[in-house]
Amino acid sequence: MSNPLANDLNTMRKVVENSANPGRFAQTFHLVPPVGWLNDPNGLCQLGDTYHAFFQYSPFSAEGGIKMWGHSTSKDLVRWTYEGTALYPDQPVDVGGVYSGSAYVEDGVMHIFYTGNVKREDESGYDYVNTGREANTVYVTSRDGVNFGPKRLVMANSDYPGDDTEHVRDPKVWRDGDTYYMVQGARKKDDTGEVLVFSSPDLSRWTLVNRITSNTRFGYMWECPDYFEVHDTGEFSGGAIVKVLSVSPQGLHGGDWDRRNVYQSGYFVLLGDVASTCTLLPFALWDAGFDFYAPQTFQADDGRRILIGWMGMPDEKTYTNLTLRDGWQHCFTIPREVYACNGRVLQWPVKELEALRTNERVTTGALSAQDTRAFDLFIEKVDSDQPMTVTLADQLQLTWRDRRFEMRFLDEDMESVGAGRRTRFEYLDELRNVRVVGDVSSIEVFVNDGELTFSSRYYPGAYSVGVDAPDARISLWDIEA
Ligand code: FRU
Repeated sequence: MSNPLANDLNTMRKVVENSANPGRFAQTFHLVPPVGWLNDPNGLCQLGDTYHAFFQYSPFSAEGGIKMWGHSTSKDLVRWTYEGTALYPDQPVDVGGVYSGSAYVEDGVMHIFYTGNVKREDESGYDYVNTGREANTVYVTSRDGVNFGPKRLVMANSDYPGDDTEHVRDPKVWRDGDTYYMVQGARKKDDTGEVLVFSSPDLSRWTLVNRITSNTRFGYMWECPDYFEVHDTGEFSGGAIVKVLSVSPQGLHGGDWDRRNVYQSGYFVLLGDVASTCTLLPFALWDAGFDFYAPQTFQADDGRRILIGWMGMPDEKTYTNLTLRDGWQHCFTIPREVYACNGRVLQWPVKELEALRTNERVTTGALSAQDTRAFDLFIEKVDSDQPMTVTLADQLQLTWRDRRFEMRFLDEDMESVGAGRRTRFEYLDELRNVRVVGDVSSIEVFVNDGELTFSSRYYPGAYSVGVDAPDARISLWDIEA
């Protein structure tokens, strides 16, 4: 930290962090900053024996504010240590916020790319879509996630296609052979979302090589793109490689979209070559719950593809988070391993979570337990033809009935357990198993080995788990972080 703006932001950040008191909804094994607001996962990576997660962080207000990168580390992906703030908005190229980005690791160096956001002062009626904004692609390196080299501007709006608006952001970088690739999310002037693909021989000079969008218009902006490949482990797939393009589209309306979240996160399986000619299969949701957005993945040294999402939802007015009165808002999801099975892309909590399980209870058909502040529940061998219900804290019901899997808060009041959340549901051909991972103020539900997930914050007065699942095998553990 060498400039006066960053120094003062650092001092003020420590002051607010030192007086923080997260209160009774503090999470026990989810990544949360000490105070204020968190949004997207950024710069996820592994360096040696340490996992690094950066995050969009606004310590000075739980309702959001100027964005910087917070930093946490973990040895096991489930117990996180907050390390302080990594990148401040302290240069002309990022003075409006150190927006989202990624870290690509090579030879012990993190190569970090992020969007330096600039919003010019409104003197001439800027609309901040086509005018008044800068989306700078900034490159910075680090060997530890704590000390950083100089910020280098590698692309600006003039380097993006002329028919894009000034909304271009969230670089995600990887390497294939001798070439580096980067995807960025963009909003075209005709209000179509797309992904820009760039390539580089040296991480500094970037050339646009492809623009990817769906056959029919699918929202006006695609945020936080990610691209990765996973081996299909299914018995019918012959070990095929599944290519996955993940995006967070904004502006989906009509039909089923009207009962879902204001913004979505999901993926397209990509056929062809991401850097030249490709087509996208139909969009699939990563998560159908209330609180999930802007996920990012990284590859661990052991080969696993790991996804972390923001357990929150931007611009959502119909529900809230009761942690606001304790001066903080939002957390990450638990890290989830992404894998493919017979052409489907699935998510499952990282296996390290199982090491925190204690107090095992196993039964058949029905179960009831109290004081379940942090728990892991697995219901398997479910009979698809019979209804199933899981009731959490007497207020949140997960039901399976008539091919519909539903998450419903019984009380819709803003002060209730769901703080204004109501119902989310999706239709499925069958129900084989359900896993529910609960922390003090969050619930993550994995349906059918993780084909679909439902994530939500919740704010119970008293904790309980009740299961009614005829003939199914039910296991429940406490989680001790
Ligand atoms: C997604 C997002 C990104 C942006 C960041 C700013 O939630 O809007 O597109 O980089 O948040 O915090």
